[in-house]
Amino acid sequence: MHRLAGDLPSAPLPAKADAPAILDRLAVHPDDAAEIMAGWPDPDSPLWTPELRWLLDRVIALVRADLGGHGWLPPGPELPRERGHAWRHLYVYAYLALADVAMGYHRDHGISADVSWTTLADLGRNLAVDRRMNGEGWPVMQSWLTLHARGGLYELGRLQHHRGDTDISLHIPDAGPLTPEAVSASLDQARAFFPRHFPDEHYTHFACGSWLLDPQLLEYLPEDSNIIRFQRRFELEPYEEPEGLDPDVEVLRFGFRTLTTPLDQLPRRTALQRAIIDHLRSGRHWHWRRGRFPI
Ligand SMILES: CC(C)(COP(=O)(O)OP(=O)(O)OC[C@H]1O[C@@H](n2cnc3c(N)ncnc32)[C@H](O)[C@@H]1OP(=O)(O)O)[C@@H](O)C(=O)NCCC(=O)NCCS
Repeated sequence: MHRLAGDLPSAPLPAKADAPAILDRLAVHPDDAAEIMAGWPDPDSPLWTPELRWLLDRVIALVRADLGGHGWLPPGPELPRERGHAWRHLYVYAYLALADVAMGYHRDHGISADVSWTTLADLGRNLAVDRRMNGEGWPVMQSWLTLHARGGLYELGRLQHHRGDTDISLHIPDAGPLTPEAVSASLDQARAFFPRHFPDEHYTHFACGSWLLDPQLLEYLPEDSNIIRFQRRFELEPYEEPEGLDPDVEVLRFGFRTLTTPLDQLPRRTALQRAIIDHLRSGRHWHWRRGRFPI
């Protein structure tokens, strides 16, 4: 809250009349789009108290001030989302205001509108996941999506590529199988994209930090599974307890899309789901591993 107070310039939301088409391009599911439109911060909307309007304006300003940045921003205040659409989607309205700012940044870097829209459409994907998770998913997504809104991350084919100092960090969206062919094609796209659009940045490695790189998965998944084949690309860094993140929780997030269902009530439909449950029930833990390989 302290960092939010200040006189940094904000950015306007798109015109309400344009919003449905924009939400559609951002892959927002019609159920989510209907809520977002119903809670729109019209000047006379009773849903928007002066405090909420202030928060929206300052969140936009704070993220905008770091345009071009690629570090993790501290998440904004967690809001009691059951209080209604304005509370529930405040960070979505901020994203909509920032989408236009990000598009301008992309244009300045010669990035095509196709890549911009594909990248920014992670909003719809994350809202859909949050809906599947009954609202449990949003707190982490809210911080994650500031990367897209600041020009810090680009979706090129199967993977999202996150700018850094010397490493391009890879993120894997929930978008179907992670086939080796799709991964290789995405890496090739990035090899051409970054020198062209960010010629002043010099990348030496692809990197990734994920539950997907936990070698314990080898005990459960077949050698030819996509996850194991993805792992084989990386040289792992020595194991360190991650800060501010519980890998067991993250594995449940990505393997089941629930954080609160007891282990004995989770589905055992896939090899990964069975692995996650059996591993935790035997008293072991999952690891968050980081790895790299040269570009
Ligand atoms: C990464 C991802 C695309 C890999 O899926 P994939 O290509 O099917 O992976 P594999 O071929 O290695 O799958 C091996 C087994 O695990 C299952 N599996 C893989 N990912 C799964 C997931 N997220 N949830 C449930 N089961 C999963 C597969 O169905 C398969 O089991 P089966 O043979 O019984 O059907 C998938 O896990 C996913 O979409 N994850 C969400 C995003 C994510 O985790 N990103 C990284 C964040 S750090």
